[in-house]
Amino acid sequence: MNNLTFKTLSLQTQTPKTLSHPLNIAVAGTGYVGLVSGVCMAHRGHHVTCVDIDVKKVEMMQQGISPIYEQDLEELMHLNRDRLTYTTDYESAYKKADAIFIGVGTPEQPDGSANLSYIATVARQIAETVEQDCLVVVKSTVPVGTNDKVEQFIKDLMPTDLENEALGKNKNIKVEVASNPEFLAQGTAVRDTLEAARIIIGTDSKTAEETLIMVYEPFGLPIVSVSRRSAEMIKYASNDFLALKISYMNDIANLCELVGADIQDVAKGMGFDNRIGSNFLNAGIGYGGSCFPKDTKALEYLAKQNGYELRTVKAAIDVNKDQKVLLYKKACQRLITFNGLKVAVLGLTFKPGTDDLREAPSLENVPLLLEQGADIYAYDPVGNNNFKNKFPEKGTESEGGHSKGSIKYVESVEEALQGANVCFIFTEWGEIKAVRPEEYKRLMRTPLVYDGRNIYGVDDMKESGVEYYSIGRK
Ligand SMILES: NC(=O)c1ccc[n+]([C@@H]2O[C@H](COP(=O)([O-])OP(=O)(O)OC[C@H]3O[C@@H](n4cnc5c(N)ncnc54)[C@H](O)[C@@H]3O)[C@@H](O)[C@H]2O)c1
Repeated sequence: MNNLTFKTLSLQTQTPKTLSHPLNIAVAGTGYVGLVSGVCMAHRGHHVTCVDIDVKKVEMMQQGISPIYEQDLEELMHLNRDRLTYTTDYESAYKKADAIFIGVGTPEQPDGSANLSYIATVARQIAETVEQDCLVVVKSTVPVGTNDKVEQFIKDLMPTDLENEALGKNKNIKVEVASNPEFLAQGTAVRDTLEAARIIIGTDSKTAEETLIMVYEPFGLPIVSVSRRSAEMIKYASNDFLALKISYMNDIANLCELVGADIQDVAKGMGFDNRIGSNFLNAGIGYGGSCFPKDTKALEYLAKQNGYELRTVKAAIDVNKDQKVLLYKKACQRLITFNGLKVAVLGLTFKPGTDDLREAPSLENVPLLLEQGADIYAYDPVGNNNFKNKFPEKGTESEGGHSKGSIKYVESVEEALQGANVCFIFTEWGEIKAVRPEEYKRLMRTPLVYDGRNIYGVDDMKESGVEYYSIGRK
């Protein structure tokens, strides 16, 4: 997208708010959380400076281009451009801010724990630059107790009154830290932020609570105020509960296949029960993305560190690991080899509506298929370029008569399916769901489909002459 072509907002709230006392807010990190939060806070009337260390990203944003794909985001950037600044100069952004939101990454480390080095860098930068009292708000997902450490770290690194005096700066600067975990989902991030089910505020300080209420009052959403540690735990407990729900349904789906039940009928029947709810009951090829995989592992790690074994979360992780390669294994049982076969891969991102590939099932399956010599034709409506960075296009190379596999990116589902011997569906994009069963029969050399998202009716595919394998259904 570019800044000249703006679609009509799909959101109902199109008008930016004008506040009588807007806050001066800085946001550290302009990823899915930081940028969306910053833009939405500007939409609600605050003045927001978005800071990132990635020069390319900042240059794009300065030109009105969103560096991430998220519905309505670029339109809101445009609509609120007078209240938004993008910069790599953190000093100018932090020194006079009323509140600094930290939205940098907390990726998984090899032992499963969260890497807090990005948070520490921002904390250090804040300590070295603030020139007035301010509230630091940790939006990133962090293990319980991190906010305490961030506050202490900032206090430890801030210049002494003597140093400030020598520099002609204010003395007695007070910096407090509050937790404000984020619950947006990629693909619906803007809507999730403007229409959040709740805002969690974690602080024991009245002043910090009041500042956060001033930030969020214009959103008109329910605010739940708790201690910092409870706020940190709410985030992990919520994410891990959702991951558990997915893994539970996948576990049941696998059993359904063995005993001749249909997971979709089972989910439908379960969903009517209000205690269970009908969301997150879809069986599939496992959860991915930047949150569930790392947040389950980080909570399991935190439990272990505290001498406790979190058995339910561990089970969710184990089920998910196997689920991601379930279809590949099924296909290996059906086919003698992938060597020299044209394999259509439909969907690369971890879910529809985002260009994010982190922990996507495609990332596990594509290397397996390439290893087996498959000639892959991949299609994703927005994820092709990001995937290409990880797996550059390459032609077939032969070694002792055995192909080492190839990958080519195509612009349509039809191109991917044309003449294919087998098809894998990894992401349920609308464009992919719109392909009718008979198209697989018409376009493919062998209409053999492995559907990781249960897009089609089993009978519809059968009637169209497609050999069809999905999750939890016969
Ligand atoms: N992505 C989601 O759906 C989601 C949802 C809820 C919570 N979270 C949590 O929010 C946090 C951020 O996630 P994300 O997906 O937005 O991350 P991301 O990787 O998309 O973005 C992080 C950004 O921070 C920037 N950055 C790194 N160091 C910096 C520094 N010192 N100063 C300024 N910018 C810096 C990076 O360049 C990058 O642009 C994580 O803790 C994540 O668990 C993510």
